[in-house]
Amino acid sequence: MNKNEIIQSLEEDLKSVTKLPDLFNVKAKYLGKKGIVTELTSNMKDLSNEEKKEVGKFASEVRMEVTSRLEKVQQEIENQILEEKLTKESIDISLPAKKISRGSRHPFNRIIEDVEDFFVSMGYDVVDGPEIETDENCFQRLNVPIGHPARDAQDTFYIDSEYLLRTQTSSVQARTMQNNQDKTPIRMICPGKVYRRDDDATHSHQFGQVEGLVVDKDISLADLKGTLELFAKKMLGENTKVRFRPSYFPFTEPSVEVDVSCFKCGGTGCALCKQTGWIELLGAGMVHPHVLEMGGYDPKVWTGFAFGTGLDRLAMFRYEIPDIRYLYTNDMRFLKQFDRKDEENEIK
Ligand code: DAH
Repeated sequence: MNKNEIIQSLEEDLKSVTKLPDLFNVKAKYLGKKGIVTELTSNMKDLSNEEKKEVGKFASEVRMEVTSRLEKVQQEIENQILEEKLTKESIDISLPAKKISRGSRHPFNRIIEDVEDFFVSMGYDVVDGPEIETDENCFQRLNVPIGHPARDAQDTFYIDSEYLLRTQTSSVQARTMQNNQDKTPIRMICPGKVYRRDDDATHSHQFGQVEGLVVDKDISLADLKGTLELFAKKMLGENTKVRFRPSYFPFTEPSVEVDVSCFKCGGTGCALCKQTGWIELLGAGMVHPHVLEMGGYDPKVWTGFAFGTGLDRLAMFRYEIPDIRYLYTNDMRFLKQFDRKDEENEIK
């Protein structure tokens, strides 16, 4: 075959080639060990030098031409494969996006953040204390010595005779006074978890409290009253009325309980407030002189007030949650209700 015939035959073979394996077969037919082009030089050893030169030149020209044609077709097939892959894998940006479910702030955390915002704006520090506490900080330094009847009201999880799970964030009062080496004025709140051996619809063995403590010179009951009135209005709405009832806590004297007008019925009486028009919100009082003394503050120089309230109660009131256990069981059906209600539920 002369060069043209070979190229023509190649072109003919290439016509039916659509896939790479077909192409490799054609390539083998021409350039393989026994291929047409290879065969051109198979009888070189029998040729004269002159002929060798000529045949060699011819074979090399044919090989170049054949190779270049094969490469061209290979390139075409590869381009086509790439093209197909790109179309198949292209992203349709007009499709609606997959819905990603967004987390939301837990009602409990919203309450903590609001309480913190309010008190920080009044110059209070937010402090932390350990949940595993000493009997001394949780009770003794709060005027509740061993054997005191007030211990019965707080069914305590004891770890041993010295350590317990704190039953009240009031323990942080004791810590803060002791830790303040320079005995400077104190303005602090401490939100956190507390533990008691209770378990029913309105009590959980674990719940949240926020404690507040102010120690300074010339602090009076009027300061306490003003602060808590503002706090109640901020948390539960501007129209909230506040009343103070005398009460008893071992670590305050005098002690008060603070009620707020029922924000559901406005004070006329409903199921939430048990027809009284009032809801108990927190305990408070002037820091007992003995407690100040145990904290290293001279009660002749310093006075102070303290208060404590349940964060769960606040969350339950605000979001109308009927069972405290919903706050802790992480049931998605409960938590999902807060997904979009974000700000609208919050009374400012
Ligand atoms: N610790 C009290 C309780 O758990 C609440 C309390 C009452 C805290 C009066 C106070 C306070 O700081 O002055 O029931």
